[in-house]
Amino acid sequence: MDAFIIRGSRALKGKVKVRGAKNAVLPIMAAALLTDERCTIENIPTLRDIVTMGKVLKHLGMAIEDNGNGALVVDSSGLANHIAPYELVRTMRASVLVMGPLLARLGKAKVALPGGCAIGLRPIDIHLKGLEALGAKIKIGRGYVEVSGKKLHGAEIRLSYPSVGATENLIMAAALAGGKTVIDNAAREPEIQDLAKFLRSLGAKIEGEGTSRISIEGVQRLGSATHCVTPDRIEAGTYLAAGAITGGRVTVEGVVEEHLKPVSLKLAEAGVNIEVDGSSITASIPGRMRPLNIRTMPYPGFPTDMQAQFMALMTVTPGISSITETVFENRFMQVAELNRMGADIRIEHNTAIINGVNNLSGAEVMASDLRASAALVLAGLVARGETHISRIYHIDRGYEQIECKLRDLGADIERVKE
Ligand code: UD1
Repeated sequence: MDAFIIRGSRALKGKVKVRGAKNAVLPIMAAALLTDERCTIENIPTLRDIVTMGKVLKHLGMAIEDNGNGALVVDSSGLANHIAPYELVRTMRASVLVMGPLLARLGKAKVALPGGCAIGLRPIDIHLKGLEALGAKIKIGRGYVEVSGKKLHGAEIRLSYPSVGATENLIMAAALAGGKTVIDNAAREPEIQDLAKFLRSLGAKIEGEGTSRISIEGVQRLGSATHCVTPDRIEAGTYLAAGAITGGRVTVEGVVEEHLKPVSLKLAEAGVNIEVDGSSITASIPGRMRPLNIRTMPYPGFPTDMQAQFMALMTVTPGISSITETVFENRFMQVAELNRMGADIRIEHNTAIINGVNNLSGAEVMASDLRASAALVLAGLVARGETHISRIYHIDRGYEQIECKLRDLGADIERVKE
């Protein structure tokens, strides 16, 4: 297994280019199941989660070619299988995103239940309720969920919570259903907007993405398209936080500024100077940082996927900060490890209270989930001495060559085998 060794206390300076958003690529790859024509998806980062999604889709019969330029050419004309087995689904919950498209295209899908997960229970009841409203029959047993329905029909669906995955599954299923579907209390994340854009370029009729009411007028079939994936706002936010925590000056390039607002506004509130220049954002520290109170919320609220990185930042910010996690249960995996590095964090229910300390010190720590691991990297960058982070395969799920990008910014970080 790979590990990172980081020697901290260096201010990061320079520019970093952000790649396509993992959380947009995954549903878009799944959405390509809806058409029997070839599609090209551009701006795809090299990430473990994307490889996993590729394995699931190949298993179903999709042909996937990597054209070597960060683009995938996908072809679902040979779609033959409707079963996503446990050994593939268990490594990545986002595999459930094949359910909507398989149902729409083949009239059936059998997908292993994703099961428990490091950051909480994460059920799929909202997905299933919505698919039922579209006319699907649901059967659960022996660790699998089976959905079937030869003729899906449009419906008015109100989600009990704006689940990102459920909104995506329902948009995909409704794209080929008969008649009009309206999803109320839909998730508004930029990645959903990107999925809708991709589907529209295939010929789908979708309106209202980015708002909490999305309408889809089903069509008979979808065609082909070339789509360039929207930039990864979480990758961008993580590098801005890296600039801030090290007291440096980091520019992220190739971002959509609007998508980063919930993050950049909080950085500004903490005393970070934010400069926007077209599709670039620069974070620098003019003076003392200020503590923050953060509450994670669905977009356009503060993203849960940036919570751990901000917690790392708050560990060395003078004063008392608080972070309340409302999206996931049990998403404070980083706390015990940060405390081992000298942070002062305690948890009260779903709130972490962070008492800023003067310094963190390097330690041996273990990565436990994707964003918690990113927080440990940030802590390692500012800590005195050497930090050793094991199990970094979690980071490779969602950050492309993070050590190379950080080294280009001046960090002392290396990947070692252990
Ligand atoms: C997506 C993102 C993930 C991000 C999350 C919230 C992808 C591949 N992943 O995950 O990085 O952290 O959005 O922004 O895009 N829930 C239910 N029932 C359901 C569905 C969800 O109770 O049927 C709950 C979940 O347990 C969780 C909350 O709703 O507590 C949010 O989940 P959801 O928005 O569905 O997140 P994902 O799509 O899994």
